Amino acid sequence: MGKNIAKTKLDILFCDGGSCRKAGSELMVREARAYLRNNGLWDTTHTIKTRCNGRCEDAPTCIIQKGNFWYKKLTPNAIISVLESHLNNNQPIEEHLIYQDGWEALISNDERPEVKPKPFQYKIDDKLGDCIITKGFSSDQYLYPLFLFLKSVNEDVFLELENGKSYPFSQLERIDYSSAYTLKLHFKENKTISLVIGGVSKEEPLEVIQKKITSTEYFILEEKNARGVRFKDKLTRLVAIVHIPKTAYKTWEYCLKIQLKDTVINEKTHSNV
Ligand code: FES
Repeated sequence: MGKNIAKTKLDILFCDGGSCRKAGSELMVREARAYLRNNGLWDTTHTIKTRCNGRCEDAPTCIIQKGNFWYKKLTPNAIISVLESHLNNNQPIEEHLIYQDGWEALISNDERPEVKPKPFQYKIDDKLGDCIITKGFSSDQYLYPLFLFLKSVNEDVFLELENGKSYPFSQLERIDYSSAYTLKLHFKENKTISLVIGGVSKEEPLEVIQKKITSTEYFILEEKNARGVRFKDKLTRLVAIVHIPKTAYKTWEYCLKIQLKDTVINEKTHSNV
């Protein structure tokens, strides 16, 4: 029988992501579970291992519910104190808290600055010529939403592959990202394009690993009155370009705001983009 969650008083979500494991989360989880087992608390508590909680700088972390208590820098000893305090006194241990409901800000001694794309720069590019360009993010957490947006926006935007073939997004019928790392774009007339956007395991063939998109550049060609997004793979080979005409306002606005996090366009370029 599974855990009877109607009976649990405390749910503990232990981060089992890479940073927390490196910082010793596994030993901490073992201690916590042994403590709960030996104190007859197994049936009234629930321990869950999660993927990254998004607070790697504070590793190892855990979240305690009911309530919303985010803990940092846990050790095998610290987690026992935390559990005792919640179970016996219904109180958190502030020394290890990153955040709890009601706080206006989190508390971390190791907070990292937000990662933002660099401002657009003027550049003479081998292929694009004179352009204004910046690098965006290339993880699937950015690229999958980007393609979903391009499908939904209904503007005159198209994809050009490295072989020169073009595919208007108005002809895109379906996007499939159910495989581990390959995004499939199904266009009308049974045309399917596959792009490697997710993390590829080292066990996969080298050819597949090398196809992963690792560079996503947003560019403006002032002379041609054009804008776009260029994707390159691990070997810096061109994979594809999304062409965004000047009339595709919503698409470009989305790129600047969501994909590039409102990165700065310097004053010289600002009036032209
Ligand atoms: S790996 Fe634990 S918070 Fe990121």
